[in-house]
Amino acid sequence: TATTPPPARPPRAELHLHLEGTLEPELAFALAERNRVALPYRDPGELRAAYAFGDLQSFLDLYHATSQVLRTADDFADLTRAYLRRAAAGGVRHAEIMVDLQTHLERGVALEDVVAGLAEGVADGEASHGVSGLLILAFLRHRPAAEAEAVLDAVLAAGAPFAAVGLASTEVGFAATPFARAFERAAAHGLRRTAHAAEEGPASNAVEVLDVLGVERVDHGIRAMEDEAVVARLVAERVPLTVCPWSNVRLRAVPSLAAHPLPAMMAAGLNVSINSDDPSYFGAYVDEVDDAVTAAFALTRDQRADLAAASFAGSFLPPEQIARHL
Ligand code: HPA
Ligand code: ZN
Repeated sequence: TATTPPPARPPRAELHLHLEGTLEPELAFALAERNRVALPYRDPGELRAAYAFGDLQSFLDLYHATSQVLRTADDFADLTRAYLRRAAAGGVRHAEIMVDLQTHLERGVALEDVVAGLAEGVADGEASHGVSGLLILAFLRHRPAAEAEAVLDAVLAAGAPFAAVGLASTEVGFAATPFARAFERAAAHGLRRTAHAAEEGPASNAVEVLDVLGVERVDHGIRAMEDEAVVARLVAERVPLTVCPWSNVRLRAVPSLAAHPLPAMMAAGLNVSINSDDPSYFGAYVDEVDDAVTAAFALTRDQRADLAAASFAGSFLPPEQIARHL
């Protein structure tokens, strides 16, 4: 019998992705065993069953705890490889990967080991799947800004291959402003800049990261829609917003996919792309998020193509390298 071929997916970039958020329960258990680290679950099924979140913090608690199994260069290589293989299968040609370096260094993993593993995984993604990877050092806003600056110093001293800095973790109760110096120094060293804002926090947080941190794009930014003046500015400046609709549903930033502001953001002329955030924990890689969003909002082929184009345009790739992926 004839079957309808799946809709052709335009090539895309993924701009909002946390490496630690790609850790599938099966790999977490394999690494726990390899490194003799205990996980407080009996098996991958039981860990996966714990993936029911009430808000960002309840997710972050589990995410930071499970990240403890990552110990060696091989662990980081295996994790990076597994993500890039899955992403490439879903049509991702370029991935900008945030890494929570502070949580790894804090438990005694050497910077050299993390970096060696990441570099091996990225090289393998390129060689085996033709997908390029760009690494983003994500500072954690619930930890002291002085620690972020120290980690940046270590990264610069080691010549570690991070192309950008970001700002992630708990938004409400932790301002971005203390990180101004870390971002300023990163910029002075030629690093690109992005930051999470207006995910759970107010629209003014998007303005804070633009004005105080000098970011070139905003991760999430959904609550910008609550302030007309902020929307007008983001539109006028064509600021890329790396929206993660399924993450917002799973962390209850929005009540349902149908209630997500994505269509309103597109209609307002905002420069949005679709991303997965933490695909293992939320149960959807970016191609699956794209399919869900397409169905929920009956997106046209043109709208889908626009979103995919925005993912490349908002990337930190030089234009000639974007052309190579299209
Ligand atoms: N928000 C903030 N920090 C994060 C997220 C997020 O969605 N995912 C992983 N770290
Ligand atoms: Zn995120």
